[in-house]
Parts: sequence; structure tokens; C-alpha cells
Amino acid sequence: MILAIESSCDETAAAVVKNGRDVLSNVINSQIDIHKRYGGVVPEIASRCHLEAIDTVIDEALAQAGVTLDALDAVAVTYGPGLVGALLVGVSEAKAIAYAAKKPLIAVHHIRGHIMANLIAHKELEPPFLCLVASGGHSHIVHVKSYTDFSVLGRTCDDAAGEAYDKVARVLGLGYPGGPLIDKLAKEGDPAAVQFPRVRMANPLDFSFSGVKTAVINHLHKLEQKGEAYNKADIAASFQAAVVDVLCSHTVQAALGTGADKCALAGGVAANSALRAQMERVCREHGISFYVPPMALCTDNAAMIGCAAYYQYLRGDFAGLDLNAVASLELGTA
Ligand code: KG4
Ligand code: ZN
Repeated sequence: MILAIESSCDETAAAVVKNGRDVLSNVINSQIDIHKRYGGVVPEIASRCHLEAIDTVIDEALAQAGVTLDALDAVAVTYGPGLVGALLVGVSEAKAIAYAAKKPLIAVHHIRGHIMANLIAHKELEPPFLCLVASGGHSHIVHVKSYTDFSVLGRTCDDAAGEAYDKVARVLGLGYPGGPLIDKLAKEGDPAAVQFPRVRMANPLDFSFSGVKTAVINHLHKLEQKGEAYNKADIAASFQAAVVDVLCSHTVQAALGTGADKCALAGGVAANSALRAQMERVCREHGISFYVPPMALCTDNAAMIGCAAYYQYLRGDFAGLDLNAVASLELGTA
């Protein structure tokens, strides 16, 4: 029975997870409405909001699960990567609870958590499998060799996929966060209206999303200079098609290269309807089983952290009370 805490970005979250995959409670306090007016997450505001919300969120998670601190086997927390001030709130809170309640502390890598959301949603899923993690800060193709052994096969060299969505949405005047807004608008547009670039890197499994973002900005500038009207839905759909094509083709290429017959999606961008549909189709074409968590487990939450922590618990992988938050953290580091 693990109490898990997540505060790496703009969601204050706590969950109680039993045996890794059984979610007894999953409470999320989102700050999106507060950051919306600034067009993106303001780190200092995020830290202060975490501080205000965290006690209530944890109390609620314990109450909903019907457990007291005594019933816990461990306290888990995201210690990186993320906004350092935001991470520190969760890390300090988890250390205090672990110390006071005399429970072991488990330090969880945020991206490992995102990947493990698949295990909660698909009880039969077991490593090895391949996972595309696409979020606001990360775009990784990960070979999940075991519950605790992960190897990164490809990563973005510049912007993350979600970051590109957020930036393009801002240029289109759609608001924040951009991913869900572009996803919705793209449904009314023509994905073939504009051919935006599908960038290839020296490592064919790496990504670059800065080029497609700049191509959209340049395209809009040119049209505006010429005084030509444009259809925002067509731009959204064409941008999305470029991003989704690259994400899917690289992931399937990685699966074929490693011989993986299971492919999963994770991270906020995994909530994207076009990505989910195209991944499902290409996986089916190649005889690969496809897994994706439900929307609520794609974006930041603490249940996924509790799941990752369970497998670290089984290995005896505990943290000391000197645990610190780490803003940049390699995925290979447990
Ligand atoms: O995983 P997440 O909640 O936080 C990070 O760890 O970054 O991901 C947030 C990112 C944002 O960039 C958001 O725009 C994107 O996920 N996102 C989406 C969708 N829903 C959220 N991107 C594309 N389509 C969506 N439906
Ligand atoms: Zn995340």
C-alpha cells in the first residue's frame, strides 16, 4: 500500500495504490486555470499553489482510499525531472510524512511514472514492451526491458511534442494548454492542406519538433504579410498530421528494430485523438499489440507514480531523507 505524491509541474496530485496496479484513490488538483492567463506555467506560481494544495490533496487521497498513514507500506514521490521549486514541495512533504510515520521513502522518476500508467490500465501488460512518451517536456522512445530497466532509444533534440503543440496553439491564438485545443480544432480541418516538414535526424529514432513549429509560424507570417485569409482548422490539422506521422513512424521503426511485439503510449500528448488512432492503425498493420492509458492517466497524476514505486519497493530501492529534487534527470537513472 503506497501513498504517492506528484508535484513536478502544474498538477498537485496524491494517490493510494495497492499492489502496484490497484488504484484506491487518485486525487488531482490542477492549476491550469491559474496559469492560463499567462499563456504557460509560471514556475514560482506553481510552487506556491502546490504548497497551498498539497495537504488537502493528500488528506483527500487517504480518505477516499479509506486508509490511515499506519496502513501504508511506503511513501513515494516524484523527485525529477520537472520544475525544481514545484518538485521540492512534493519531495519535502513526502520526506516529512515518511519520517513522521516511520515509512520507507521511494524516489520516482516522472517519466517512468508516465510509462507505468499503462500497467494500471492494462492489467495483463508485462515488460518487455516499447513506449512512446510524449509530454510537455519530453519526447522519448523507451525500451521497457523490465519493470525497473529502461533504455532510451530516441529522444527529441529540441522541443518536446507537447511544447510544440503549446507554442503553435499560442501563435494560432487558441490559448493554453494548446494540445487539447489543437486536437479539437484539427477535427474540423484538412490534414493535407499544408505539407509541413517531417524532420529526420542522424539517429533515425530521434525527434526534432522545433522545425515544424517554425514552419507553421513562417507559413502564417507569409499569409499575413500577403493579407491572405487562412483556415485555422486546416493549419491545426496539417501541423498535427506532421507531428503524429513522425511520432508513429519512429515508434514503429523502433519496435521493428528491437523485435518488440507490444507498443504503448504515455504522457500528456498520448491523450491526442489523432495520435491514438494512427498508432493503433500502424501497430495493427505490423502485428504489434497496442496499449494506451485512459485520458485521465495520460496527463500528470500520482497513481502512475505509485505504480512505478511498487516495482522499486519490490527491489528494495529506497531513498534516504537526504533526497533532493532534480530538475533534469536521465531516464536510465533509477
Ligand atoms: O504529461 P503532461 O501532463 O505534463 C508534462 O509532464 O509535461 O503533458 C502536458 C502536455 C501539454 O503540452 C499539453 O498541451 C499536451 O500534453 N496535451 C496534448 C493533449 N492533451 C494534453 N497534446 C496533444 N493533444 C492532446 N489531446
Ligand atoms: Zn508529465
